[in-house]
Amino acid sequence: MEAKCLHFFMDKIEGDFKGKDILSIDQLSVKSLSKLFHTTDKIIRMLKKKKHFKVLSGKIITLLFFEPSSRTFGSFASAVKRLGGQTIEVQDVGHNSSVVKGESLSDTIKVFESYSDAIVIRHPEKGSAQKAALAATAVPIINAGDGTGEHPTQAILDLYTIYQKFKRLDNLTGLIAGDLLNGRTVHSLIKGLSLYKKNALYLLSPKSLGLPTELINNLAKKIRLVEIEKEADIPTDLYFWYWTRVQKERFKNIGEYEKVKNRFVITPELVIKKGNQHMIIMHPLPRVGEIDPRVDDDKRAVYLKLQVPNGVYTRMALLTLILSRL
Ligand code: CP
Repeated sequence: MEAKCLHFFMDKIEGDFKGKDILSIDQLSVKSLSKLFHTTDKIIRMLKKKKHFKVLSGKIITLLFFEPSSRTFGSFASAVKRLGGQTIEVQDVGHNSSVVKGESLSDTIKVFESYSDAIVIRHPEKGSAQKAALAATAVPIINAGDGTGEHPTQAILDLYTIYQKFKRLDNLTGLIAGDLLNGRTVHSLIKGLSLYKKNALYLLSPKSLGLPTELINNLAKKIRLVEIEKEADIPTDLYFWYWTRVQKERFKNIGEYEKVKNRFVITPELVIKKGNQHMIIMHPLPRVGEIDPRVDDDKRAVYLKLQVPNGVYTRMALLTLILSRL
């Protein structure tokens, strides 16, 4: 890969992923997502036929996780290994690396880029993935969640799951519920849905955890957003419900968290009252009480059945397009 320059920092992808950072959904277009989904379809077909496609053979990917993760960490590790690559895995970086001695993010990135062909980073600070991308001169940086900012690869798997079910990503109306203030998966998903025509979203959250005003203002011309206050306001003809956890780790005052943590919970009764037969029920996970486990057996619940495996397939597709070709 050629030396990175400021020119392509937060560059638009426009269907050409080769060597690019993935920092925000803002970089992606409908064309880019179509290419990604087409590659994901191809990967799923090849996996079903047990075909080998070791396109990352000889490549090493660093997984640098400053915050806990099960799905994003595990699915990236699985994706790299299924593609024949190898990983350097550093979890809890603040304790298990020289960051504990005071090493800066910038130096940490400069070190690991010498060891690997790409760096996947999760960090508690919004904007940290961009900082990492500025520090890296020769390898792509993939944002695996930056504080309350974005989680672009989660949005890619969420969009793919909706696309898989409805065969389109336009002309859809859905519900996004939970912690819309701190939930980075929600920020990226709404941006992603706003790339397509005639989408609308109902937003259900405790008053203190509404979507940031800046995001609402930026998206107002691209997607219809309707804030609602209670379950009774949920329309019954939605295509998807996307529920999220209230993010305890973002609260300074734990008493405030306790007040709102289980304000909105999906129960079988709510699904009967406000759901419909064609909808899907989504959640990025982890869940901590906001989905009653009795909902898991409902055929419309896709958080474990589709979103989790799609996390591996879409990340395989993304890594292939950034680092290789299929
Ligand atoms: N959805 C998600 O980002 O899960 P993890 O925090 O377990 O990676």
